[in-house]
Amino acid sequence: MATSAPHQHIVGKGRRRSHQPAAEPGHTAEAALGEHLYTQTARVSVICQGYVGLPLAVELARAGFPVVGLDVDLTRVDALNAGRPHTPDVDGRELAALRQAGRYVATTDFDSLVDSDVVIICVPTPLQKSKDPDISYVAAAAEAAAARFRPGQLVILESTTYPGTTEELLLPLFASRGAVLGEDFFLAFSPERIDPGNRAFKVRDIPKIVGGVTPACTRLAALLYRQIVVQVIAVSGPKVAELAKLYENVFRNVNIALANEFALMCRRLGVNTREVIEAAATKPFGFLPFYPGPGTGGHCIPVDPGYLAWKMRLNGYEARFIRLADEINRAMPAYVVDLMAGALNRRRRSLNGARILALGVAYKRGVADMRESPALEVLAQLRQCGADISYADPYVPSITVDGVVLQATKLTDECLTTADCVVILTDHPEFDYARVVELAPLVVDTRNATWGIAGPADHVITL
Ligand SMILES: NC(=O)c1ccc[n+]([C@@H]2O[C@H](COP(=O)([O-])OP(=O)(O)OC[C@H]3O[C@@H](n4cnc5c(N)ncnc54)[C@H](O)[C@@H]3O)[C@@H](O)[C@H]2O)c1
Repeated sequence: MATSAPHQHIVGKGRRRSHQPAAEPGHTAEAALGEHLYTQTARVSVICQGYVGLPLAVELARAGFPVVGLDVDLTRVDALNAGRPHTPDVDGRELAALRQAGRYVATTDFDSLVDSDVVIICVPTPLQKSKDPDISYVAAAAEAAAARFRPGQLVILESTTYPGTTEELLLPLFASRGAVLGEDFFLAFSPERIDPGNRAFKVRDIPKIVGGVTPACTRLAALLYRQIVVQVIAVSGPKVAELAKLYENVFRNVNIALANEFALMCRRLGVNTREVIEAAATKPFGFLPFYPGPGTGGHCIPVDPGYLAWKMRLNGYEARFIRLADEINRAMPAYVVDLMAGALNRRRRSLNGARILALGVAYKRGVADMRESPALEVLAQLRQCGADISYADPYVPSITVDGVVLQATKLTDECLTTADCVVILTDHPEFDYARVVELAPLVVDTRNATWGIAGPADHVITL
């Protein structure tokens, strides 16, 4: 069940009464909130308990802040309150302990925002079918917060979005409710940079960029994050912070596209792409290796560049690198299908009627996340060619391809030997790639998972 008025049930390092004004007589609102941030007694609400919001909420609670995790999905809220997180970045026992200690509670009750000193918005920012930004989640969350604005609040947007969102969309919503920026209302943008499933870099290990609308907004947001992360980088305003995040993701998308195009060129030249990249990566400066694959996936890399491209189009400028990278990356599933068709053809087989086993369908290794996974496009195209498709993925029990529901199969020796072609789409660490190479009659490896195993085997084709 959702818990009502959650901040009243939650305890921080110090005790504060509900509705206690953040500013005492003789104090500025900034000083009052600053003190609560420094002592981790500020009450924090994190809107959206997804891949980003949940680990952030847990990190804040671990630091001592009383934290409310708000989400519109009651099933997810109930699971979180029962200590069952949906992301590998949060430990269920720790979540349950924080809940037990009264430092974290999940709820669907947005009225709890009235009791919050800090409101952090981490809602999804997808693209519409037209590839224009779908900013409706941010707008809904900001409206919910603005409708419950209380003087003294710090509001931070973390969702990746187009430059200008914080000042053009959020600020007017709060100003129209009587909030006076920099005096009794503080607003900042601080992009989340988490990499779900990454064991080396968790929330606390990743430096936080902070751009407030006024210097006081930046100071307060930086003070909050200093309680939980290794380093805080203050920039001159929200637009810089919004653009820094977009630049990171455009950089990644463009470099993946370059690696993908390089793979196409290496194939024509009869050279192993991976060998070229590994050789180039021995340069100790000025080079960063990126690898080809079946296309980009996840909520960020294929999506976020579209936010910048859209904003630039409104400014009369076509973002050419973004357009080209998108074009190359989105063509990769068809290229993978062509590789498979060619390899089967050389064995006097056609895709039509071939038994194809896909290994891995999540968008990246070690996670269950299917958002924008290029595996779905590869499988849909294979089906349209008449292939008989099945898949194994220890993280994803079922998928829908072209409206047809497929259940995951267990990876056995028998399914490797009976497949006409095994295509590696996600290099999950659980798969035994030596066994795959040994038993499968034909392997198309889009992730170079067989690097170092296959040798010059002519039944193994890599990108
Ligand atoms: N996932 C990543 O790897 C990652 C990394 C860095 C930044 N980001 C950015 O962070 C933002 C959030 O991404 P995510 O992957 O955490 O999203 P997500 O897909 O995990 O979020 C889904 C959750 O949002 C909830 N939700 C939807 N609308 C809501 C609302 N109005 N109020 C409260 N909850 C709502 C849903 O119920 C669901 O629980 C995006 O802007 C994304 O670009 C994501």
